[in-house]
Amino acid sequence: MLRDKVALITGASSGIGRAIALVMSREGAKIIAADLSRDGGEETAKQVRDQGGDALFVEADVARPEDGESLVAQALQRHGRLDIAVNNAGIGGLTSPRRNIRRMPGGRSSISTSLACSMA
Ligand SMILES: NC(=O)c1ccc[n+]([C@@H]2O[C@H](COP(=O)([O-])OP(=O)(O)OC[C@H]3O[C@@H](n4cnc5c(N)ncnc54)[C@H](O)[C@@H]3O)[C@@H](O)[C@H]2O)c1
Repeated sequence: MLRDKVALITGASSGIGRAIALVMSREGAKIIAADLSRDGGEETAKQVRDQGGDALFVEADVARPEDGESLVAQALQRHGRLDIAVNNAGIGGLTSPRRNIRRMPGGRSSISTSLACSMA
């Protein structure tokens, strides 16, 4: 169903984002997995490749416009196209307790991250 489509998934290092990456890959999509967390993102990309898919992890903060532009540029550079954007990154999921919000780089709030994600 998604054969040869290129999908950019933010917040792909854990939880829902990782699950979406794995499912979309099984449906044939090539995955660009983006997140603040390098370790988790590399693990997601590895899991996609282990099931026979194509994945690139890109470390990015979606609250930074220049990171968003870089993500699109890297997708186009690697595949020449970008078909799907899953703007999943956010703060407040089950594995991200609200107490972690204060630890975001630069003291960023969940609100600024969510606004940036919705504009991506
Ligand atoms: N799990 C739930 O019950 C639930 C409910 C409502 C909404 N949501 C939303 O769904 C999304 C995924 O939830 P989850 O449970 O998988 O959470 P999660 O915490 O497991 O995953 C969120 C991912 O987003 C990344 N992230 C956060 N800010 C980022 C930024 N500025 N740039 C790049 N990456 C960033 C985190 O590093 C993390 O890997 C989140 O946006 C969350 O707010 C989840």
